[in-house]
Amino acid sequence: MQGLRRNIGFPVVAVVLLMFTAVMLPEVAATRYIVGGNKGWTTNVNYSIWARSKHFYKGDWLFFVSTNWKRTDVFEVRKKDYDKCNSNHPIHKLSKGYGRDVVPLNVTKTYYFISGRGFCYGGMKVAIQVKSRRPRV
Ligand SMILES: *[C@@H]1O[C@H](CO)[C@@H](O)[C@H](O)[C@H]1NC(C)=O
Ligand SMILES: *[C@@H]1O[C@H](CO)[C@@H](O)[C@H](O)[C@H]1NC(C)=O
Repeated sequence: MQGLRRNIGFPVVAVVLLMFTAVMLPEVAATRYIVGGNKGWTTNVNYSIWARSKHFYKGDWLFFVSTNWKRTDVFEVRKKDYDKCNSNHPIHKLSKGYGRDVVPLNVTKTYYFISGRGFCYGGMKVAIQVKSRRPRV
């Protein structure tokens, strides 16, 4: 009898814990952004305008989707190389060659991404300011 009583308490604790988890999850949920929205990573998109209306937080993800993947690529570069469209000394080469590249925004900083092969000069570049924490809603 004693053992049975003690066991009854467990499901209640579990349910309460689950409810807390369900309430807290939306705050910490990461967001995955397809860079450029339905246009993807391509020419003739102004990515400054695309990024302007968004807030990026540590833990979010960027998705670079390109149908032009044989010619374009994705580099993370330093600001001065972003400004000059220089992909000769990237921090990371992110494109693996299939036109679908996932980038974790795991550091609070401004990330600078460009395409190589001249496309950066036409506007294939984006700066993403990553903030530390999504505000509570
Ligand atoms: C962030 O992600 C990049 C790319 O996957 C990885 O190289 C780097 O080590 C990660 N940094 C941290 C602080 O986790
Ligand atoms: C994107 O639009 C902004 C604001 O209209 C403008 O200042 C910027 O020069 C444009 N960038 C490109 C690469 O055309």
